[in-house]
Amino acid sequence: MTVAQEPTTSPATASVSHPLEPLTPEEIKAAVSIVKTEKALTDSFRFATVTLKEPEKQTVLSFRLGDPIARAVFMILLDNATATTYEAVVSLNERRLVAWDAIPGVQPPIMLDEFVACEAAVKACPEFQRAIAKRGITNPDLVMVDPWSAGHYGIADEVGVRLSRALCWVKANPTDNGYAHPIEGVIPVVDLNKMEVIRVEDYGVVPLPPEDGNYIPEYVKNYRQDLKPLEIVQPDGPSYAVDGHEISWQKWKVRVGFTPREGLVLYDVTYTDNGEDRPIFYRASLAEMTVPYGDPQPNHYRKNAFDVGEYGIGSLANSLKLGCDCLGVIHYFDAFITDSRGEVAQIENAVCLHEEDFGILWKHMDWRTEQTEVRRSRRLVISFIATVGNYEYGFYWYFYQDGTIQYEVKLTGMVSTGAVMPGEVPKYGTLVAPQLNAPIHQHIFNVRLDMNIDGANNSVYEVDIVPEDDEHNPYGNAFYAQSTLLPTEKAAQRLIDPMKGRYWKVVNPAKTNAMGYPTAYKLMPGENTLPLARPSASVINRATYMTQHLWVTPYSADENYPAGDYPNQHPGGAGLPQWTAADRPVEDTDIVVWYTFAHSHSPRAEDWPVMPVATIGFMLKPLNFFDENPANDVPPSVSKHSCCG
Ligand code: CO
Repeated sequence: MTVAQEPTTSPATASVSHPLEPLTPEEIKAAVSIVKTEKALTDSFRFATVTLKEPEKQTVLSFRLGDPIARAVFMILLDNATATTYEAVVSLNERRLVAWDAIPGVQPPIMLDEFVACEAAVKACPEFQRAIAKRGITNPDLVMVDPWSAGHYGIADEVGVRLSRALCWVKANPTDNGYAHPIEGVIPVVDLNKMEVIRVEDYGVVPLPPEDGNYIPEYVKNYRQDLKPLEIVQPDGPSYAVDGHEISWQKWKVRVGFTPREGLVLYDVTYTDNGEDRPIFYRASLAEMTVPYGDPQPNHYRKNAFDVGEYGIGSLANSLKLGCDCLGVIHYFDAFITDSRGEVAQIENAVCLHEEDFGILWKHMDWRTEQTEVRRSRRLVISFIATVGNYEYGFYWYFYQDGTIQYEVKLTGMVSTGAVMPGEVPKYGTLVAPQLNAPIHQHIFNVRLDMNIDGANNSVYEVDIVPEDDEHNPYGNAFYAQSTLLPTEKAAQRLIDPMKGRYWKVVNPAKTNAMGYPTAYKLMPGENTLPLARPSASVINRATYMTQHLWVTPYSADENYPAGDYPNQHPGGAGLPQWTAADRPVEDTDIVVWYTFAHSHSPRAEDWPVMPVATIGFMLKPLNFFDENPANDVPPSVSKHSCCG
């Protein structure tokens, strides 16, 4: 074999203009080919993850257009034959594998092609066919098998086996909504390495709920008739500009990325103030989410999906081309991931970028002169939507003209369902149709915010609005905003306190605004609650991040996922609880802020058959970051349809 002299920049990387540009299809193909060749991989290998290995933060922040770019690919592979997980790093510039390590005792996330293969294996299993026949189901083709993650329950013969505890429903016909007809009490347990059903648990026959629950046009015949068109028109185009994956919009600059695990990632967010691009955060993403169910029945007590770490929420992103997900002038970003065989999989239009009118931004009328000044608020929206089995999650970042950043999750889709006996009223759920139980559950999210307020070194304070003590409070009226520094990791494990109007501020202690206050952004909680599973529950140990709303850690390039790198079937303790045990200092240093927010979902009749959007999220608002309202320069609206022109 001869080795040709390699150029320093290989053709696969030649077109990339920035170190954080997502991998191109050519780069993915090159990396997969390099690892397949160098390790002589057989067909028993699956590619669980193929993603950009992000360069060091300093390299990115000091990058100037035209600088050489080192491109590397991080991969997680699974050998089904030996049940071994590997991590690999390929240098695209050097065109070679630079790291290859077996990672003992872990399970990579469940891959999309495993969904398909798992369903086929279950339907073909004679024991499963006998179990459904007992329930009057004779056509396995109409059965839907959702491969739920198995979690970790200390069961000896489950350790080291790549498991799914599949849950099953049946459609009345091929276009029927199968979630109306859960097959309660039958749980096929599948070894995903062998792709074999290892047992079928049967807890006794519960009749199929009798009613259908359909929502597609084929079934909904009586649409309301009084809806007239409402069109968003942007005759001169949008106000944003896109260069590769960098977006600029008014004073904002944002770079977007996309990983199979987290989906949308935002990098290097800045706001231009007096001609200077002032950094706010370096990287932000949904780092984990967990959906614990509250029903102790056999079908439900192990439902605790980690939709980021166990499934890869990015790999489940919708292609938004065919829908009506955004209105206005839209720029879409495609996402390129791989299937489990390493073939490039394109998610066309995975990320949507557009602008929205958002009511009024500010207003004042001088009552003496009756001069009224009002400004319309416009926000930039960067979003994607993922389908995880029955559920949809929309993930939205909003950027506002006054420096505010908002993160919002929209929850919709189908509630997970179970069947109960005729006449039974479930305690741990709600009947949404006869004999159809929607179990109570929580959706708990954690967003990782690599903060960068006016530079790398930041500190976090907790702020409570508190009454003055009696000694200094002659009229009893006094109250003030009390700031408390959170100097170490343990001190910075905090809960919300709505009665104190609690928020947390991330400050740059070395920078001040015109009034001498340290420049800051405040993290403002929205709806939130705590996990309701007991501390002894498996899911609390596996997702300990859920037990605090705020965590702060010193930046470390390998601390990215709050429940650890491999939460699938993990016994627990990994991630935030492990790292923060050292109680490292987090004052005036490069920090990462982790915010947990939880939505408790006691289902309603109105959530069936498809659930209207519920929202949850938080805001980051400038706090003495500017010298005055940064949106004072937003011009009055000019619109031929406007009443105020
Ligand atoms: Co829900």
